[in-house]
Amino acid sequence: MTPAQIERTPFADLDGQPSEMTAMLLAALDEMGRHPEILRVRQTAVRALRPEAGQRLLDAGSGAGDVSRWLAAEMGPTGEVLAVDSSSATIAVARQRHDGSNVDYRTGDVCALDLAADSFDGVWCERVLQHVDDAERGISELVRITRPGGRICLIDTDWGSLAFDGVPPGLARQVMELMHGRLTPKQYDMGRTLRRRLVARGLTQVTATPVTCLFATPASAAVVLPMINPLVGQDAWMAPPGVRDEWFSHVDAAGARGDFLAVLTIWVVAGSVGQ
Ligand SMILES: C[S@@+](CC[C@H](N)C(=O)[O-])C[C@H]1O[C@@H](n2cnc3c(N)ncnc32)[C@H](O)[C@@H]1O
Repeated sequence: MTPAQIERTPFADLDGQPSEMTAMLLAALDEMGRHPEILRVRQTAVRALRPEAGQRLLDAGSGAGDVSRWLAAEMGPTGEVLAVDSSSATIAVARQRHDGSNVDYRTGDVCALDLAADSFDGVWCERVLQHVDDAERGISELVRITRPGGRICLIDTDWGSLAFDGVPPGLARQVMELMHGRLTPKQYDMGRTLRRRLVARGLTQVTATPVTCLFATPASAAVVLPMINPLVGQDAWMAPPGVRDEWFSHVDAAGARGDFLAVLTIWVVAGSVGQ
């Protein structure tokens, strides 16, 4: 499949969505950022990135900049973070939330960064590459702007790992198939490919940690999984009549019995740029 044939998710073009949809997606990102499983992924990632006091980091695809501000705080008063996101609406929200930490905000495309070579000590890129047309180009850019010896940390979902229990398996498979390439990215396996991509570029000290997130209630799963989120309506599902209702009747029943389960692996992959 060529990059042009890959269908785009709403996160690939937040500015192209109706404004209510952009607001809903940004609120969803906020909720994800508070979810204990996503916080566990981020703790794994910060250990892999190893930021140090006084460093300059890039948060590529920064969303509303909450992680950028957290990373700046991790590095103390002399550290700085540049938060870059392709969506100007998102960067506007990030600027509104600015809290005086050493973070600068800019719109930009991870695949064509207007930044000098070797100008950062490290890069954080969380759940972005699954949404871009050409992840290899994005990674080339991240390597280019990182100084020799600097570290790159990529965090991405492996949607192919998504599994359910407590609901009929055939229906779960049908739902995952329906979502594939629309509400979940076509590049469903991005997370598991990251290690190979960094190894192929000659990065050293590559670490790859699969963090399997457990969602033991529908409410917990709904924060991260679009097919469990009741706010994602029939229009967005584009499913044959009845499928969404049948699915939710099983999800709700499993929730009421207490035996609903969903698991999704998010990969944290980091490496050092060659000296
Ligand atoms: C799922 S969100 C993740 C945001 C943030 N990293 C987080 O983990 O909360 C994906 C973000 O990547 C941004 N994005 C998508 N394509 C991009 C690109 N080519 N360059 C820069 N940012 C991009 C979107 O606008 C969105 O804010």
